[in-house]
Amino acid sequence: MIEVSEIRKTFGSVKAVDGINFHVKKGEIYGLLGPNGAGKTTTISMISGLLKPDSGSITVAGIDIGGKSGQIRKRLGVIPQEIALYDELSGRENLHFWGSLYGLSGKKLREAADRMLELVNLTERANDNVRDYSGGMKRRVNLCAGLIHDPDLILLDEPTLGIDPQARASILKIIRDEATSGKTVIYTTHYLEEAENLCDRIAIIDRGTIHAEGTLRELTELAGEEDVVTLTGNFKSGVTKEILSGLRIDHLEDGMVRFYVSERETIGMVLNKFFNSGVSIENVSIKEPSLESVFLRITGYELRD
Ligand SMILES: Nc1ncnc2c1ncn2[C@@H]1O[C@H](COP(=O)(O)OP(=O)(O)O)[C@@H](O)[C@H]1O
Ligand SMILES: [Mg+2]
Repeated sequence: MIEVSEIRKTFGSVKAVDGINFHVKKGEIYGLLGPNGAGKTTTISMISGLLKPDSGSITVAGIDIGGKSGQIRKRLGVIPQEIALYDELSGRENLHFWGSLYGLSGKKLREAADRMLELVNLTERANDNVRDYSGGMKRRVNLCAGLIHDPDLILLDEPTLGIDPQARASILKIIRDEATSGKTVIYTTHYLEEAENLCDRIAIIDRGTIHAEGTLRELTELAGEEDVVTLTGNFKSGVTKEILSGLRIDHLEDGMVRFYVSERETIGMVLNKFFNSGVSIENVSIKEPSLESVFLRITGYELRD
């Protein structure tokens, strides 16, 4: 359905997107998981036609969008990271506005707007100004604005940013239903759980490139069998290295050490050795192989909300 090859975008000296490749099949939800500044929005903007890539190509249903983006545009639905609604208009008026930009009019437009409002449970508040909506309600209308023309390819850029769990669950369910009905979805997020629970395939994006890609299972296999152990306390480099000799240390500083173990018993032994050498441990965290540990291994840092 969509094929992205070797796209790049530089802003001054910043390589925002530095050679990204992926393809997404019809009916698939493809996740771009990465921290702030990874290049997610820039990638989405190049697909939606808002930004022109410096190089590389993007084809949708076999058509290069470089040349004929107008034709393709109506088949795309874009849900931007920044909420794109008029505060002084009602939710319904906003949808009428967006629907008309996508070429809907008259009865078709009104019916599409009503169907969308019903879908996100906002029928009763449809005539209130968006100004008076909660963050979650705005996000839901923002979602509708990108879906109202029934697009085949849906681009969602962090559509659940900063909303409550119920609104998030309802948005994720709608996206899942769209994919089930054959729509193709590209979904960016910095929430690990969303990538895990929603996406059929996930790309880990950081510093403008994709570092790993696959299904959740394929990615967690990359993490291997080892648990990641993080200890906080008061460590001295010499004695810590001695205690952890034979284990792979990922990170060591005065207040924190992170290492990998393949057997759980090792953790108890290590803690004992620290105790016997008078090192006080404040906190112990053990993580099984997961998307989180793959992320950590690939990027070298934890993805925090
Ligand atoms: N219009 C712009 N002008 C200058 N730098 C930009 C612009 N847009 C994005 N960047 C930079 O490009 C990098 C990637 O940004 P972005 O694509 O927004 O990442 P993400 O959406 O993953 O947070 C960041 O370093 C950001 O500061
Ligand atoms: Mg972004």
